[in-house]
Amino acid sequence: MPLRSILLATLLLTSCGSKGPQPGPSAPGSLREAAFPIGAAVNVNLLRSNAAYREVVTREYRSVTAENAMKFRSLHPDAATYTWTDADYLVQFARQNNARVHGHTLVWHNSLPAWVTNFQGDSAAWENLLKTHIQTVVGHFRGQVSSWDVVNEAIAEDGTLRPSVWRQHLGPDYVARAFQYAHQADPDAKLFYNDYGHEFGPTKRTAILNLVGSLKSRGIPIHGIGLQLHTNSNRADANLAAAITTAAQSGLLVHISELDVAMNPGKTAGLTWSSALAEAQKAKYQFIVQTYNALPAAQRFGLTTWNVTDADTWVRGDCSCPDWPLPFDDHYQRKPAYDGIVAGLK
Ligand code: G3I
Repeated sequence: MPLRSILLATLLLTSCGSKGPQPGPSAPGSLREAAFPIGAAVNVNLLRSNAAYREVVTREYRSVTAENAMKFRSLHPDAATYTWTDADYLVQFARQNNARVHGHTLVWHNSLPAWVTNFQGDSAAWENLLKTHIQTVVGHFRGQVSSWDVVNEAIAEDGTLRPSVWRQHLGPDYVARAFQYAHQADPDAKLFYNDYGHEFGPTKRTAILNLVGSLKSRGIPIHGIGLQLHTNSNRADANLAAAITTAAQSGLLVHISELDVAMNPGKTAGLTWSSALAEAQKAKYQFIVQTYNALPAAQRFGLTTWNVTDADTWVRGDCSCPDWPLPFDDHYQRKPAYDGIVAGLK
């Protein structure tokens, strides 16, 4: 066994003595051995077609999130049509590889099919549209998908409720009803409110915490809060720590749900990877993981990176620039960022 694996196994096994869930079965020296589930948002086409991608996911992760396969537009392209193939493939892959599946996402203002964005029904028809989608999807995956991002990104960056089609046609309390519909369809599923920007500052973060706190105090079936944490090398550690620790103060499960650490926040066209960038990224991953690892074990739902390797990150397309935000490089090899995660787990 390579020295790295011995070190990693030692580091992780000493941390697994805590009350956290027992590490899943895995190859020695992988993130599967962490005290809480570490996962990735996965692309079903790459799972099917790319053996190297599939090997990293299988070896390292005991939680997978559907990057796109469970979004409204993917599952429900026409009013009377559901397309389950890709999502069912992901669920089967997870079952065969002893990984849990986190469902993403039932209600979002993005990735909606045209029949929804153009829907002309009255409020009752809109309510039926929302309830039918949620309960059909959650019902289909009942017993296979253990948790859901029920509502994603309902809070705008100014702290107000985003003026989405859902708010427009269903009123501001659609969020609560979405959770109730999901819970009715699968009472065992853990239901999350997911958003980005907790680390930007107090404006959006406070609005999110007020929302989830209100839902919880009303007895709405919400179990967790997802912090996307699409962050970068410029984000101050204090902001990241505030995001994670204030989320835990809600008393809910905390999921770092879409972690990546972009290293080209200035979107410099000619930026090249360097050991300096690698070390800075390692430190940022280590800080985030150690801050999360310090939360009460009962609240550590897990930590999920968004995508698997730098070769498949959404960030490059989003910024139209070079970037290297993930713990695995373009050749599917572990980066110093991976070592930062391991160090943060001890
Ligand atoms: O599958 C179609 C393909 O048939 C079509 O030819 C092509 C061109 O139009 O589009 C393809 O769909 C794209 C899809 O990704 C699958 O590749 C959509 O256009 C594209 O908008 C979609 O982007 C995804 C984005 O969410 C919007 O849904 C990204 O892959 C995904 O990484 C990103 O993930 C989001 C989370 O869900 C929420 N948090 C932020 C995060 C990053 O934006």
